[in-house]
Amino acid sequence: MSEVERFIEQKSGGYVVAVVGATGAVGQTMLDVLAERKFPIATLIMLASSRSAGTAVAFKGRDYIVQDLAEFDPEGVDIALFSAGGDTSLEYAPRFAAAGCYVVDNSSAWRMDPEVALVVPEVNPHALEMARENHIIANPNCSTIQMVVALKPLHDEVAIARVVVSTYQAVSGAGNRAIEELAKQTGQLLNSQEPSIELFPARIAFNVIPQIDSFMDDGYTKEERKMIDETRKILESDIAVTATTVRVPVFYGHSESVNITFTAPLDAATARAVLADAEGICVVDAPALEDYPMATEAAGTDPVWVGRIRDDMSCPNSINLWVVADNIRKGAALNAIQIAEILISVE
Ligand code: A2P
Repeated sequence: MSEVERFIEQKSGGYVVAVVGATGAVGQTMLDVLAERKFPIATLIMLASSRSAGTAVAFKGRDYIVQDLAEFDPEGVDIALFSAGGDTSLEYAPRFAAAGCYVVDNSSAWRMDPEVALVVPEVNPHALEMARENHIIANPNCSTIQMVVALKPLHDEVAIARVVVSTYQAVSGAGNRAIEELAKQTGQLLNSQEPSIELFPARIAFNVIPQIDSFMDDGYTKEERKMIDETRKILESDIAVTATTVRVPVFYGHSESVNITFTAPLDAATARAVLADAEGICVVDAPALEDYPMATEAAGTDPVWVGRIRDDMSCPNSINLWVVADNIRKGAALNAIQIAEILISVE
């Protein structure tokens, strides 16, 4: 995947790996992906808050006792995969980095820091070089990752001028409590009960909410701002991006309607051929067979799925795409572990 030189010296017995947020939705999938990809682990350390310290988390059929992050000494850890929220990352990632550990952080805490690499391995692996000094690497926002994987090969073909994206985001992006909230509300409504609203700003069951994260003064949400800023940091700072991010009652898998305007002609047929050849992408685009990517099929898989590729007849040099991926895998856990694989130079 990458020609970037290894960051951590080769260790024949494997590496010391810590998963911070091991009890969470992303942390659990990180463990699945580490096992599936046979990441070389000598010692695995499960960390979370004091709330779940002492409980057990399974990995490859063995139980590991969760330790309290606040009490943990990071000395000797090679790689820490953080997915425990922005505040936790702000406080603890520098402590792990100071101990010589490489931190791959899934929160938004470090993403827009100009000194920190924001990396999607298929798109900008060379940005990782920045991490040799500060040892912190940011994993982009889930919606950004799947979109830039699709944009990059097209941008290499003809430079992109502008992107207009609307998202249809699964509740799992907001963590385990959000998954429980959709399940609970669905049950309540099917049983003619009043739905209990705890995490989301409105009822999510049988509804569509045009708000993800909080609003800023300009009327955009922070999720929309992340998609705009992160896409420009990863791909190219002069691409114009506008976004509308929407939560839908889907458990796993984000979908995106993406309209792209290029600086010169690139038609849908060429785009389809380019995407079909690109790393990390599966094209499913057969309107005659009513075949296109959907969250139900993307959930539990690794690729970014692209379909509904068509010319935008309303605007020169423009096409439309439908982009779907498992937000917890490629959107979070898998991307982080692909970064960790570059750190130890596993192809
Ligand atoms: P815990 O289970 O102890 O609350 P999710 O995204 O599914 O909500 O998961 C968040 C993850 O982050 C959980 O593993 C959670 O652990 C962990 N976490 C949240 N706050 C902290 C904290 N202050 N210190 C360490 N881990 C935390």
